[in-house]
Amino acid sequence: MYDLLNRFAVKPIPFCQYTTPELWTRPHIAQQMLAYHLDGSNDIASRSSSAIEAITSWIDDRFSVHGKAVCDLGCGPGLYARQLAQRGAKVTGFDISSCSLAHARQLCADLDTEPRFMSGNYLNDPLPTDQDLVLLIYADYCALSPQQRAHLLAKMRGQLRAGGHIILDVFSDLIFSQLSESLTIEPNLMGGFWAPAPYVGLQRSWLWPESMLALDHYLIANENEQFEIYNWMQYFSPEDLRRELASFGFEKVQMVDILTGEALGDEQPREFAAILSL
Ligand SMILES: C[S@@+](CC[C@H](N)C(=O)[O-])C[C@H]1O[C@@H](n2cnc3c(N)ncnc32)[C@H](O)[C@@H]1O
Repeated sequence: MYDLLNRFAVKPIPFCQYTTPELWTRPHIAQQMLAYHLDGSNDIASRSSSAIEAITSWIDDRFSVHGKAVCDLGCGPGLYARQLAQRGAKVTGFDISSCSLAHARQLCADLDTEPRFMSGNYLNDPLPTDQDLVLLIYADYCALSPQQRAHLLAKMRGQLRAGGHIILDVFSDLIFSQLSESLTIEPNLMGGFWAPAPYVGLQRSWLWPESMLALDHYLIANENEQFEIYNWMQYFSPEDLRRELASFGFEKVQMVDILTGEALGDEQPREFAAILSL
């Protein structure tokens, strides 16, 4: 217990632990996440239904997805996969959460061109190749360390056919500037999100302003077990993301408004997407 509390009390080294898979695969948390995904009125695990419709619409306008091979990495419960398949794309959804994938399969079962859904960890497992478009949507990129980001982008590049594109989105420095550090300890922290009640949850939020990195570190304890979740979030300005992508070998990059697909203007965005071309 001392070791656990001591670890929790000390500011950790950036990206010292990668617990994202646990966040999406622990059965209790996975069910809660699925409920958030499916509540089309909030932006917690997926964007709202209207935002998803707007995004798939500009992707189709720009890339004419009919007949194209589109891989949605971290597809969750198939909200984008369904809309892209309805537009005639040959979609492969790839995700680590069997709970979300089960829902995705059900959601798309009535479609003429049913997407294929694959279970796996996109950092470790082989990914589908011969793709025209590879998506990584809703800031999955931001949860990864610089080494993981370089590794995943190299894998995504390997998925593409000649002339293919990658679309990924991130949260911006504007959101980071509104964050603060905090410590919370509560019975059944976040209303039972983390485990079947009763439990005690601690949340320590840390910031690294010099690198625009944030961490929500959770410690959850009930009578039977304790576990920790490290929720890293790397924020980017458009210039920082462009520099990083160039350092990973992607020179042809356009930064766009995630909701419209239009080139970013002068206004500082809260979130934005990058379209990477080979
Ligand atoms: C923030 S959600 C976004 C889901 C979907 N893109 C959307 O916007 O509706 C992140 C998704 O990525 C999946 N995921 C996270 N890490 C993963 C990994 N290493 N390999 C495969 N899937 C992962 C999660 O299971 C979850 O479904």
